[in-house]
Amino acid sequence: SRTVRRDEDGVVSVGGISVADLKEEFGTPAYFLDEDDFRARCRAWKDAFGEEADVFYAGKAFLSRAIVRWLHEEGMNLDVCSGGELATALAAGMPAERIALHGNNKSDGEIRRAVEAGVGRIVLDSFQEIARVAHIADELGKRQPVQIRVTVGVEAHTHEFIATAHEDQKFGIALADGQAAEAVRRVLKLDGLELTGIHSHIGSQIFDMAGFEVSARRVVQLLADVREEHGVELPEIDLGGGLGIAYTPDDDPREPHEIAKALGEIVRHECEAAGLRVPRLSVEPGRAIVGPTAFTLYEVGTVKELEGLRTYVSVDGGMSDNIRTALYDAEYSVALVSRRSEAAPMLSRVVGKHCESGDIVVRDAFLPSDVAPGDLLAVPATGAYCRSMASNYNHALRPPVVAVRQGEARVIVRRETEEDLLRLDVG
Ligand code: LLP
Repeated sequence: SRTVRRDEDGVVSVGGISVADLKEEFGTPAYFLDEDDFRARCRAWKDAFGEEADVFYAGKAFLSRAIVRWLHEEGMNLDVCSGGELATALAAGMPAERIALHGNNKSDGEIRRAVEAGVGRIVLDSFQEIARVAHIADELGKRQPVQIRVTVGVEAHTHEFIATAHEDQKFGIALADGQAAEAVRRVLKLDGLELTGIHSHIGSQIFDMAGFEVSARRVVQLLADVREEHGVELPEIDLGGGLGIAYTPDDDPREPHEIAKALGEIVRHECEAAGLRVPRLSVEPGRAIVGPTAFTLYEVGTVKELEGLRTYVSVDGGMSDNIRTALYDAEYSVALVSRRSEAAPMLSRVVGKHCESGDIVVRDAFLPSDVAPGDLLAVPATGAYCRSMASNYNHALRPPVVAVRQGEARVIVRRETEEDLLRLDVG
């Protein structure tokens, strides 16, 4: 986040508010999200891609009514992947034509709600879904704009990618073996569907541009094949999300303008070579927009020093507010933010309060050796896939999200209460 400062006493403040004051007012654990940073990142993406492209924020990274309003104000589009995300988007006033619906197993109910609302695009993920969406659109007397999600045979990981013919995963329709070409054939025959383009999403937390480049080339090739077979030039391509962010100082992420430049050049070049009109491009960043804008604030409860091994520092949250370490071996950094310490660094493991030994927030961290109960720790870059993947494990109360802007902090998602938990129990 861009408004985080540390004063001479070692006390960190965000947007001018000290962590002690934040704790006092909102409690811990809590996520603090820098609204100006969020908006600045939306603008950076929009500016990088310019007028000839659309930026869809991937709501799965983190969504709330306030986020939807900010997106709307910043002229962003929104990718939703469930009925719940769609409901949030519509409830907070996102115009339906700026919403895209994703998912590999959308229910009839979800499809119906999206078509009825008039979403700008449904991204078709299977042959069954082609028929389903067409049927529902017919019933509602609508013609639904759709894209076909293809798998281009690119396995992208953080620092590397592998280009293959096939991809072994559940999403999309394979380019390989003419599957995607067959999907195009079917969609073009259906009156209820208006095929606007091809979609490809190759993975997440990616630093290596080469995977996006292979994906762009293969998608343009499909566009050329479609023109050859059907005489139509599809007007759009979407190259998905996946741009990585810095979780630790070792990470060196690409900036939006770098990805915009690389993708724009490749698409233009490939289209020129194939004699195609350059289609309208869209992308779907989630993590790269919201991830860096938030940190989690925890209070230390207990400290156990295991001679010759490491020190376990337990905080008042854990895998219920950040499952990523346990689930993906994700790396985070952590800092003591409530005071300055000159004590020597010690190898620490920051763990949560859950009844499970895999409940780790930061696997290896150096914290000052005098870290003690009552200290506040901050874990940066928790804006994406932390609150959105939070759980009630051990009946934990999911933490609030507090937006900080120009010296003011306000809750945009409140802390759960025990009443919230009990409300779902019947009998
Ligand atoms: N578009 C599609 C079709 C996607 O499936 C995704 C993410 C995105 C866009 C946004 O990707 P991003 O720019 O945020 O990387 N829970 C995992 C990440 C799962 C991503 C799923 N799809 C994590 O915490 O790392």
